Amino acid sequence: MKITIDGPSGAGKSTIAKLLAKKLNLTYLDTGTMYRAVALYLLENGYDNFEDEECLKNYLNDIDISFKDDKIYLFDRDISSDIRMEKIGMIASDISKYIPVREKLVDMQRDIAKKTDIIMDGRDTGTVVLKDADYKFYLTADVDKRAERRLNQLGVEYTTDEFNKIKNDLSTRDYNDMNRKVSPLKVADDGIIIDNTSLTIDETIKKIINIIEGKNVI
Ligand code: DC
Repeated sequence: MKITIDGPSGAGKSTIAKLLAKKLNLTYLDTGTMYRAVALYLLENGYDNFEDEECLKNYLNDIDISFKDDKIYLFDRDISSDIRMEKIGMIASDISKYIPVREKLVDMQRDIAKKTDIIMDGRDTGTVVLKDADYKFYLTADVDKRAERRLNQLGVEYTTDEFNKIKNDLSTRDYNDMNRKVSPLKVADDGIIIDNTSLTIDETIKKIINIIEGKNVI
């Protein structure tokens, strides 16, 4: 079985996909971590020659991204926490518009999916990476709700300015991801939209499982 979950930042894709993977006994792949890994690599190596496709392609040939025990590695280094920085998410969104970056990562994602039943989440997993997936979900939520969830995850009090900053960052990323020329974030033709603004994680999972089990036609 192949399942894809696409949608904007902060809609809960990763949390939900991870839990579904456990419930349905599927491999889980968070494709966003791969774009973040490339962002970190390019940032740390001071690379900024993005418009030169051949050069970028050669540069990316050297990169080694792998997964082990729910962690992501850049060469031998566990980068699972480093890539979570908001700044890296922003750079990942910026560099994800370059064709050599997408080609390299989409190839890797398809290779992983070839060997196993899988659920993957990202921006183009249903529209590009696994066009033949059994179920393609598009998970979304109101931007205010997404900003609120992001801040609540940190578990500390926040000011209106901090809320507005996160909301602006999310809106910028939404715009970038939805408007890039290559593989923009959009609902697949056969995608199922789930707006979870007023749903809990458990309710969202239940809804998805019901759809998979054919108990619910949205
Ligand atoms: O899911 P995330 O926030 O970790 O992803 C970071 C960025 O990577 C996102 O803003 C756009 C890019 N991305 C992408 O272009 N395609 C994917 N399948 C996954 C992520």
